[in-house]
Amino acid sequence: MHVAMIGTGYVGLVSGACFSEFGANVVCVDKDEKKIEMLENGVMPIYEPGLDDLVENNVKGGRLTFTTDLASAVKDASAVFIAVGTPTRRGDGHADLSYVYAAAKEIAENMNGYTVVITKSTVPVGTGDEVERIIRETRPDAEFDVVSNPEFLREGSAIADFMHPDRVVLGTASERAQKVMKDLYRPLSLIETPILFTSRTSSELIKYAGNTFLATKITFINEIADLCEKVGADVHHVAKGIGLDGRIGKKFLHAGPGYGGSCFPKDTLALVHTARDNGAPLRIVEAVVDINDKRKKSMANRIINACGGSVIDKTVAVLGVTFKPNTDDMRDAPSLDIIPALIDSGASVRAFDPEGMDEAKDMLPGVDWCEDAYSTMQDADVLVIITEWNAFRGLDLERVKGLLKQPLMVDLRNIYEPSEMAAQGFVYHCIGRQEV
Ligand code: UDX
Repeated sequence: MHVAMIGTGYVGLVSGACFSEFGANVVCVDKDEKKIEMLENGVMPIYEPGLDDLVENNVKGGRLTFTTDLASAVKDASAVFIAVGTPTRRGDGHADLSYVYAAAKEIAENMNGYTVVITKSTVPVGTGDEVERIIRETRPDAEFDVVSNPEFLREGSAIADFMHPDRVVLGTASERAQKVMKDLYRPLSLIETPILFTSRTSSELIKYAGNTFLATKITFINEIADLCEKVGADVHHVAKGIGLDGRIGKKFLHAGPGYGGSCFPKDTLALVHTARDNGAPLRIVEAVVDINDKRKKSMANRIINACGGSVIDKTVAVLGVTFKPNTDDMRDAPSLDIIPALIDSGASVRAFDPEGMDEAKDMLPGVDWCEDAYSTMQDADVLVIITEWNAFRGLDLERVKGLLKQPLMVDLRNIYEPSEMAAQGFVYHCIGRQEV
């Protein structure tokens, strides 16, 4: 089957490469010539573990190509995915769908024969209807169906999430489109992946409701962590204790500085607006958005308090700036709130991140970027862990003590054990556990 993937970002590039791994002939399209040139030279425009090998193997196999020419890609395709960005619209929090609608029109102008147009991007409820209207208006003669097929990929494990999803959700009422989608996802059917066929509207809402529920679950444990600090409980034990209940589940119960990324912040906001616009406000989600924003901003105060109430003329060593490990993505990362607040409070900030520094340099002016974890902490007054990269989980604590002016650590991801840190002579601050 010939597939066109419009958009080669985190979702489009991974999805296109994975569909070619499934045996489809995939053409990935992007307007960004530089990005396409990089891809044609085997250079990945994003950091995603395993993506370079996956792309290389399928380019070599003749199943994956890249182009800026949408027309030629669509003309030959029986399935065309829209995987362009749907950022938060400046100022009002709605999803900006201009790229989706522009792609829909261009696809309509170049479709040839029956074509299934699939919205892979995260799009508000009702977007599929608008895409269908645009295509119908542009090409009254065309034979096509519009299907919603949301992605559930986590950055840093996107390929594994695509190849072994909990489920595939397909929103369409057309049996003809269902057949095309079943063919495309056949390799997953062979491993008995649940494929849920539903309406386009329900499919669009599943995506938002899923992400929003996960963001709510994280915010819940973050607030429980604050309560743990007040009553002397341990949030790791509370999370484990509730997570053993099959109705709750143990995932996404890691307390931290607040969620970031390209999805949770924008999807929660977009769903809040959709709900308000439709007269069914989601007050729990509105609280989640507010709590999370405030939490990220409050983390700097934890660090300032750990330093005795002031960081004026102090040096703060920061390990990790990306919104999560195993990605270079800085979108809505907690570091974007924490580091400027520290600098505004008079601190000098040195930082290191295994993958995110290129992306972060323009977003975090005034930071002294370092070569590695240990050089970052040389003569610093406090060591702060913002992102839980594996590289930071096994630091040589004796060496750390020798490099810092004082053995003071603020661990916003709880990757160390309070008792161990006490035994090593650290003053150790963390989230929702008994500090030492
Ligand atoms: C998320 C969804 O998981 C994925 O299904 C969807 O397709 C896209 O959005 P992603 O944003 O890549 O994926 O990362 P995820 O691993 O979900 O983490 C999101 C944020 O929540 C990160 O900032 C992470 O640090 C935070 N988080 C996650 C926690 O603070 N605690 C947790 O227990 C889990």
